[in-house]
Parts: sequence; C-alpha cells; structure tokens
Amino acid sequence: MKAAIVREFGRPPEYGDFGDPRPDPGETLVSVTAAAVSPLVRARAFGAHYSSDAAPPFVPGIDGVGRTAAGQRVYFLATRPPFGSLAERSVAETRSCQPLPDDLDDTTAAAAANPGMSCWIPLTRHAPIRPGEAVLVNGATGVAGRMAIQVAKYLGARRVIATGRTESKFAALRDLGADTVLPLAQPAEALRDAVRQEAREFRIGVVLDYLWGPSAEAILAGLGGPEAPRGPERVRYIQIGNLAGPTITLASSLLRSSGVEILGSGIGSSSRAELATGIGEFLGVYIRAGFRISVTVRPLSEIEPGWAEGPGDRRPVFTVP
Ligand SMILES: NC(=O)c1ccc[n+]([C@@H]2O[C@H](COP(=O)([O-])OP(=O)(O)OC[C@H]3O[C@@H](n4cnc5c(N)ncnc54)[C@H](OP(=O)(O)O)[C@@H]3O)[C@@H](O)[C@H]2O)c1
Repeated sequence: MKAAIVREFGRPPEYGDFGDPRPDPGETLVSVTAAAVSPLVRARAFGAHYSSDAAPPFVPGIDGVGRTAAGQRVYFLATRPPFGSLAERSVAETRSCQPLPDDLDDTTAAAAANPGMSCWIPLTRHAPIRPGEAVLVNGATGVAGRMAIQVAKYLGARRVIATGRTESKFAALRDLGADTVLPLAQPAEALRDAVRQEAREFRIGVVLDYLWGPSAEAILAGLGGPEAPRGPERVRYIQIGNLAGPTITLASSLLRSSGVEILGSGIGSSSRAELATGIGEFLGVYIRAGFRISVTVRPLSEIEPGWAEGPGDRRPVFTVP
C-alpha cells in the first residue's frame, strides 16, 4: 500500500510503499480517507513525544477517518506500530472506532479530533465547568487553543479569557468567543496582576494550559498567593501542552494557600478508549455547535512538501482518494 514512511528519526516522512496491516483480535482494518498532522503526530514522528512507541521504519499518525470492511465511516484512534493513519490502510482498536455523523465531512473530522480532544476531554471528564465559572485558555492562538475557546463557551463558560503572544491574532480569538485576550508579551508581574483581576471579577474555575513555562508560573501566581481570591472554590489547572517550556518552578505555598489543583490531560491520563469515546462525542456535536477550524487539504502523495510547511494556523490534513 502507499503510505507516509518515517525511515529515520529527525527526517520528514517519505511517500512510498509499505506492507499492508492485518488486524489482530480486537482490531479493525480501516481504509483511510483522511488523517491530520497535529503537533502530536509530528513529535511522535521525531521520536520526541512521551508516548512515542515506534521505531523506524513506521507509518506516522495515530488517528484519522476511514471506512471499515463493513463500509461504516468511522473516526479511529490507537493505531498499532509500525502502522499509522497516514497510509491507505491502517489498523485500530475496535473499541476506539467511533461512527461519524453524516453531516460532518472526513477532512474536518480528521482535523478537529486532536484539538477537540485537548479541551473536550478535560471539560467533560476531569474538570467540568460549574455554573458561573470562567475558563482561561493559556496559549489560545494555536489550532487547539482556538478550539478550546469555542468548546468552553459551548459547555457553558460564563467568560473565556484567552492568552497569546501574537497580537495580530487576537481579533480572531474574540471572533471565536474569547471575551478578553491577555497578551503574553508583557512582564510576568503584569500578566499575574491581569489574571488576578480577572479572577476577582469573574470566578476562574478552569485553566486549559497549552504552554507551561513562564506564563504558567505567572498565571498560577495570579490564582494563588496572599492577594488571591480565597474560599472553598477550586481552580482546576489542566496541563495540556508545553510549547513554552517542559518545566515550571512552583512554590509549595501557592498550593497550600489557594484552591488550585493541577491535573494533566493527554494520552496516559485517560485510556485510549476513553479518549476515543470523548472525541466521538465532540465530533457528534461539532456541526450543531457551530465549531470552526481552518484546514489545509492535500493528497497523501504530497506528504513531503506538506510536512515541510510546518505547523501554522491551518491544520494540515492528508487525504487518500
Ligand atoms: N494533551 C492533549 O490532549 C493535547 C491535544 C492537542 C494538543 N496538545 C498540545 O497542545 C499544544 C498546542 O497544540 P496546537 O494543536 O494548538 O498547536 P499549533 O496549532 O501548532 O499552535 C501552536 C501555537 O502555540 C503558540 N506558541 C508556540 N510557542 C509559544 C510560546 N512560547 N508562547 C506563546 N505561544 C506559543 C503559537 O503561537 P503564535 O501563533 O503566536 O506563533 C501557535 O499559535 C501542543 O503542545 C500540542 O502537543 C495536547
């Protein structure tokens, strides 16, 4: 079959021939129609993600959209290395295959699944929004952060506070539902104070953090410390991505003096079956909710130039005709 193939970590995948997958018990053979290149797919292709489990040569991509042998159109997750979703065919855990609604097209579903997972899973499982709560999205200019704004509003956030480093993108975040955007290009104390002010006026119940690093430290300082709003309210701080740094410095007193709880959301904090179920729910409401995502579609044969373009505001999706 034709596939994108990672032949060496650190080098972009090539388009070529790869052996066909055969499903093991509990797996489903999927004829792939569309698969996206998310930061997760890119990091795993470089062997740099904590969940990386394949050695070259392998087909990248852990999810996508396709048809089963019975002709059912599904979203699938949890491919088995060396097989991945950026190929004509793949195998996935049967329990991780989710039927798709007729009104959602393949490329949109493939593009939206990963950014949808990033916010739908925490906001429906680990940290549901309570009535009257605001949600803060740290690092909202990316594809996942933009989806998080929309999902937080859909799931009932009273106010969505976004952060970003690129001011030219702030209007787009407001258009998607952000009530305010806090610039990250300001001194840490100023960001801390802006968060503190928001937390005083609007009860911040959940933080969805795509960045970690210095902005996470400033936001946590704004949510805790001696001047923080006090009381029994919990602030669920969800660690999702680490684009700004893999570590932070965290004062123990911040946790003792505040209602802040730090949790993570990703592969490993939920089972793959739970992630797939959550993604299925998200894709099930996608059209009704009016969610939006920008997508660049190319045939799989163009994986090399498409990969080289790198991440941007539009999510690359590769299709198999
Ligand atoms: N755990 C999960 O379930 C899960 C799911 C999806 C994604 N993620 C993770 O979440 C992160 C974002 O994913 P994505 O799909 O949104 O990626 P993306 O579409 O590539 O967007 C990345 C965005 O992050 C911004 N950014 C990068 N470095 C930054 C920094 N140092 N400070 C501020 N902003 C910075 C960029 O800002 P500019 O636009 O300003 O250049 C860009 O808009 C990734 O780490 C990804 O792996 C996790």
